[in-house]
Amino acid sequence: MTTGGAGHGGMTTLPDGYRLVDVGERREEFLDVDRLAFGFASDPEVDAAVPVTLDWSRAVGVEGPDGRLAAVHASFPFAMPVPGGTVATAGLTWVGVRPDHRRRGLLSAMITEHLDRTARRGEPVSALFAAEAAIYGRFGYGGAADALHLTLPRGAALRPVPGSAELDLRLEPLDPAVHDDVVHAVHAAAGAGRPGWILRDTDVLRRRHLVDPPAWRQGGEPLRVVTVADGRDVRGYALLRRVERWEDGRPRGAVRIREVAAVDAAAAHRLWSFLLDLDLTATVETGMLAVDDALPHLLVDPRAATSRLQDNLWVRIVDLPGALTARRYAAGFDVVLEVADARRPSNAGRWRVRTEAPDVAGGHVAEVTRSTDPADVTVDVRELGAALLGGRSLVAMQRAGLVTEHRPGSLAAVATAFGWPFAPVCSWGW
Ligand SMILES: CC(C)(COP(=O)(O)OP(=O)(O)OC[C@H]1O[C@@H](n2cnc3c(N)ncnc32)[C@H](O)[C@@H]1OP(=O)(O)O)[C@@H](O)C(=O)NCCC(=O)NCCS
Repeated sequence: MTTGGAGHGGMTTLPDGYRLVDVGERREEFLDVDRLAFGFASDPEVDAAVPVTLDWSRAVGVEGPDGRLAAVHASFPFAMPVPGGTVATAGLTWVGVRPDHRRRGLLSAMITEHLDRTARRGEPVSALFAAEAAIYGRFGYGGAADALHLTLPRGAALRPVPGSAELDLRLEPLDPAVHDDVVHAVHAAAGAGRPGWILRDTDVLRRRHLVDPPAWRQGGEPLRVVTVADGRDVRGYALLRRVERWEDGRPRGAVRIREVAAVDAAAAHRLWSFLLDLDLTATVETGMLAVDDALPHLLVDPRAATSRLQDNLWVRIVDLPGALTARRYAAGFDVVLEVADARRPSNAGRWRVRTEAPDVAGGHVAEVTRSTDPADVTVDVRELGAALLGGRSLVAMQRAGLVTEHRPGSLAAVATAFGWPFAPVCSWGW
């Protein structure tokens, strides 16, 4: 075994003959590893249409004994919304190990390296979307948000919202040159205050979000955009495609929504009223929604919806004081946490987390210091990461045997404080 890349966290251990390397100019080789890992081929038409969004200075590989890349990963620098603020976050991405190098510990070594680099860059948190949900918990990532996917029948009735009918609605072919600004602005406004609502805040991420190569359409039409406006400002949009289908002579088309965003209830109502009543369609698939989205509240018959809940953001606390002080808290509390972190000893041990008076933006500011006092609550960094965005109850985790309370009442206080009025979600990812 060889070791290297030791930061103030754990050691990076690789099997003999393997070593960590910066990817540098080996970009095609990097992309090839992921093609092999995920099982997709290079398609000239797709490659020409879809920009690679990676920040190559943050791309890392593992070189195998044959001198070729055997595993890769990279990360995005995000300002991730947390309750009442944002935290600098490394968005882990493009994680892939060649199938002929699997289960030798390459991912484990890459995660240690990623967490060390993240800490050195001063990013207190790492976050990701998981290809398979069983992979990342062992590395201290906690499932911090879920997304709701609804399938609705055409014609599902909505409760009325004043002002909805007065909004202007337009359906157009999606043209990035025309719609990029409005999509970006409404997306940002619609998610203001929502933890996890990461913005596509670079040109290349914005461009990537609106691409639509024919190979991605799965039998559907090119992407359309529907916007609703009050005569002056656009207040909501949906990116969608219809898939034409006929059964026994009857139209059974589907409406597939890539993303929907609305800044208020009237805009949401106007959009959904339209999407739920398109000719020749039978079903509407919503794509990712926050679990507290307006739509389920608007349905006259909530049982009309078939719902699926899927894990959304996974959050890994890399620098505990940095992460816990980046957010605000819903109530005051003073607690000593005993934190376990098998991979980053710098997070482990006892911490006093104590709130000060609410700040002007609302929510309590916390002070986080080392403590030698007896612990009130014992928690693993995974569960603390799960609670960071305000969407998971530490009391629920206690009931699953994952959190332990030592001082009666202390857990209820900290769980209440970690809660937040908006459910976390990230509306996009790849
Ligand atoms: C998932 C993947 C990255 C794992 O890489 P790897 O180098 O084989 O992983 P490691 O050998 O470091 O395994 C570390 C541990 O995770 C476990 N593990 C790995 N992949 C897992 C999976 N898909 N589901 C559950 N556990 C998994 C291993 O069993 C091992 O457990 P152990 O420590 O108890 O023995 C690799 O199989 C891969 O590239 N898969 C296809 C692409 C993909 O899914 N990428 C992730 C994108 S988010």
